[in-house]
Amino acid sequence: MFTRRSWAEPFKIKVVEPIQMTTRGYREQCLEEAGYNTFLLRSRDVYIDLLTDSGTGAMSDNQWAGMMMGDEAYAGSRNFDHLVEAVRDIYGYRYVVPTHQGRGAEHILSQMMIEDGDLIPGNMYFTTTKLHQELAGGAFIDVITDQAFDPESEYPFKGNIDLDKLRAVVDENGADRIPYISFEANVNMAGGQPVSMQNFREVYRFCQSLGIKVMLDATRLVENAYFIKQREDGYADLPIAQIVREICSLSDGATVSGKKDCLVNIGGFLALNDPELYEKATHLVVIFEGLHTYGGMAGRDMEAMARGIRESVDYEHIRARVGQVEYLGKKLLDAGVPIVVPVGGHAVYLDARRFLPHLDQELFPAQALAAAIYADSGVRTMERGMVSAGRDPVTRKNIRPPLELVRMTLPRRVYTQAHMDVSAESVTAVYDERNMITGLKMVYEPQNLRFFQARFARI
Ligand code: F0G
Repeated sequence: MFTRRSWAEPFKIKVVEPIQMTTRGYREQCLEEAGYNTFLLRSRDVYIDLLTDSGTGAMSDNQWAGMMMGDEAYAGSRNFDHLVEAVRDIYGYRYVVPTHQGRGAEHILSQMMIEDGDLIPGNMYFTTTKLHQELAGGAFIDVITDQAFDPESEYPFKGNIDLDKLRAVVDENGADRIPYISFEANVNMAGGQPVSMQNFREVYRFCQSLGIKVMLDATRLVENAYFIKQREDGYADLPIAQIVREICSLSDGATVSGKKDCLVNIGGFLALNDPELYEKATHLVVIFEGLHTYGGMAGRDMEAMARGIRESVDYEHIRARVGQVEYLGKKLLDAGVPIVVPVGGHAVYLDARRFLPHLDQELFPAQALAAAIYADSGVRTMERGMVSAGRDPVTRKNIRPPLELVRMTLPRRVYTQAHMDVSAESVTAVYDERNMITGLKMVYEPQNLRFFQARFARI
């Protein structure tokens, strides 16, 4: 008889960092001081930190050992060679330009490829990616499938590019106005939703026929590969590493924030196959980041990232990583809390529109919900709605994005199942008293990437 068995994390814990619970009154005071923006809270006032999965993971003993092997030579560090080898082995790209983190790579890619008036189609915007495209003179155009905008759609590949939308952009503007497609794996702003291999293949073929390059945002590509293994015909028996290689073979390069899949606290890279583009990138990296063999990273950090890249494709690792997110998502679904389905790879996204139907989007429901959860329990989450979407670069009007979400993001290898239970209980308690939550007004707005530093007041 078949007995179903549970899985468990493929590691045990060697070092612990104490965390502290605070009182509700104290947290209310912290929120007021932080202008109701969870980015402006102090880490020491947070109980369980689900703000982001970026740079917040726990490194392995093997990575920490690598930190002691840092070759801090200014030029030609051996850790750079290890990083290049890891990227070649796992992703399959020929050239690697290290950067201090993902946006450093986006900056270089945008500056070297985009000219004034260019269009960059992509599968939903990411905040820093889109801003770098705009600063380089381009405009981002969203060509993601419509299913991505429906939090209740169970479509298994809500990250896919809609080829009809892409064709229409090309027909209207001409291929020569489109330097590349910005193709994100496991789309963050859509709820951590994957792209199918078939879609990667079709987009690449279409673009090759027109001379348009395909540049991946491979920040969460391993999580995407895991979903392909789970959901797409023909991939169930393939190793994660092989699926990762196949995705990358359907692109011309990638920007990567190493702070996610690659399991490091800081770092990133731009990967390329074309020698001429690589040469251009090496000329820019020395201006903005550092010499092309360290690009803003210490030797020890490059070593940790090289080792993290190899660890990231281990099946037991990625199953436990995504499994923990699924565990939290299921708890919330069982409690009747409205979340984005299917549950994503790095985070559970609360649907603030359905959670707080009494609040108009102008009252920043997702921002208010993130504040209410922090007040309840000290669990820190993040707004991914109208504040994150910012303003239209031309009209300067607020963009009203279809998705108004709060992200509960899980750091890698950091929290236990009990932390998930406590977090789910807090969200459920807030859901039970949702009618008490009032809206916010923005009282300070920075010019760019406003969600990081904006301040709010209760209405
Ligand atoms: N691309 C994606 C899809 C990201 O999620 C991020 C960062 C970046 C690029 C930029 O990388 O932070 O290393 O410069 N996302 C973080 C988050 C900030 O919380 O989702 P970075």
